[in-house]
Amino acid sequence: MLRHPNIIQAEDPTSLLRAVEVLGNGGVVAIPTETVYGLAAAVNNPSSLNKVFSVKGRPTTHPLIAHLSSFEQLHEWAKDISDDAATVASACWPGPLSILLKKSDKLLFAVTGNRDTAVFRVPANDFTRRLIDATQVPLAAPSANRFGKVSPTTAQHVLDDLGSDVDLIVDGGPCTIGVESTIVDFTCNPPQLLRPGGIPQEDIETILGKALQGQQGESRASGMLQSHYSPSCQILIANDLAHANDLLSHQQTIGYKTRIVKFSGNLPIYASTLYSQMREADTDGLDSLIAIKPGQQGLGLAILDRLLKASAPRI
Ligand code: TXA
Ligand code: MG
Repeated sequence: MLRHPNIIQAEDPTSLLRAVEVLGNGGVVAIPTETVYGLAAAVNNPSSLNKVFSVKGRPTTHPLIAHLSSFEQLHEWAKDISDDAATVASACWPGPLSILLKKSDKLLFAVTGNRDTAVFRVPANDFTRRLIDATQVPLAAPSANRFGKVSPTTAQHVLDDLGSDVDLIVDGGPCTIGVESTIVDFTCNPPQLLRPGGIPQEDIETILGKALQGQQGESRASGMLQSHYSPSCQILIANDLAHANDLLSHQQTIGYKTRIVKFSGNLPIYASTLYSQMREADTDGLDSLIAIKPGQQGLGLAILDRLLKASAPRI
């Protein structure tokens, strides 16, 4: 168990009260979700919202996801909720789906980077949903890492990245999904995939009974910037195991410290361990890390997206 003055276990009987207190006093709390840890502020607290941007080092024009405790809460914070949005959200929530809608007048522009749209999701973590109920407003939360770096999937990762800049870290154990949520824009028809993530595109299309528009060129989501999700070591993408072994021996021949990402041929394991394997590669001082390109079904699309971002040249 992780011990640090800023860390509390989710199951500690005082965790909820402490988190509510920090949020009420203008602080920020790292919260567990099934995808990655978030850095939370109550959506009606401008001091906490400012602190999220400053701790992350994120430009204030980059919008945050508003986390709700239930589908019903959406009506207060969003407007023009289409039937498609309602169908998909009620089928997938709680879960790793985020939806883009028009925001209601009640939601501060500080959350949405001055846009009239906002992204919402209901996370599948009991502590976090109880915290949202206790604060009585949604929690705005980007991933709890410094801007442009790999998202945290354990409380230790958050501590390693943000240290005492975060007022409280609630340890809910390792994230089960391990990649960020899928983001779908429901302000257009057909709805458009903005970011592949924890819920496969095909699952959403089955629920909807129609195809989503794919991602297009320049995305509006900050996670789409080149060289997002970057570890310090170089990420090399191999087509298959034979190619990965070739790359491994070549890297070793030129004197590089390297290894191949392990995933046992299983996409959920690949997704849930990818970010921690990237972090371990940096801790172990590797020059490069070799990842085998997944198939594009299921979680494969989200994994490949993160691998491409991590392997992109640094800007
Ligand atoms: O799984 C997740 O989605 C995690 C956990 C903590 O919930 N959160 C997360 O947040 O990945 P973040 O801030 O790292 O990524 C949110 C993405 C950003 O790329 C942001 O630009 C996009 O959502 N986004 C949020 N509101 C938007 C809006 N109104 N228009 C376009 N993109 C938006
Ligand atoms: Mg992020």
